[in-house]
Amino acid sequence: MHGRAGSVRLAGALFALGVVSGAPVSAETPAPPPRPPEAVYAKTCGYCHGQHVAPVIRGRAIPAEMTQAIVRRGQRAMPAFRPTEISNAELKALALWLKASKADPKEHDQ
Ligand code: HEC
Repeated sequence: MHGRAGSVRLAGALFALGVVSGAPVSAETPAPPPRPPEAVYAKTCGYCHGQHVAPVIRGRAIPAEMTQAIVRRGQRAMPAFRPTEISNAELKALALWLKASKADPKEHDQ
């Protein structure tokens, strides 16, 4: 009886420490939540686009399908980005955001 109560306490302590969790163990790591388009643009596009390296793409109502195709394929000096870098959900949101975006006066063309 004594030993059993002790192991129950131990299990409780491990649970509290997060060592044992109730969540089922899954072979696949769940996909991280999609990042907002502004964040993807700032991190992945904005260091070329609008920075004298690549054409300004904000405020031009570029069709979303075109942006998605160019991002996946790449175009001349622009590298392609894989779904592991920008998920499909992030790319779709980015393309729609870009199409609706206003020009940023701080950005400059090539
Ligand atoms: C390494 C620099 C670089 C990065 C990073 C980059 N691009 Fe580009 N992008 C370019 C260049 C250079 C061009 C012009 C390609 C050409 O000569 O046709 C271009 C072209 C484009 C065009 C077509 C513009 C036009 O006027 O026809 C779109 C749309 C575009 N990029 C979107 C994106 C998006 C969205 C991202 C971020 C996910 C991104 N790019 C990241 C360099 C870059």
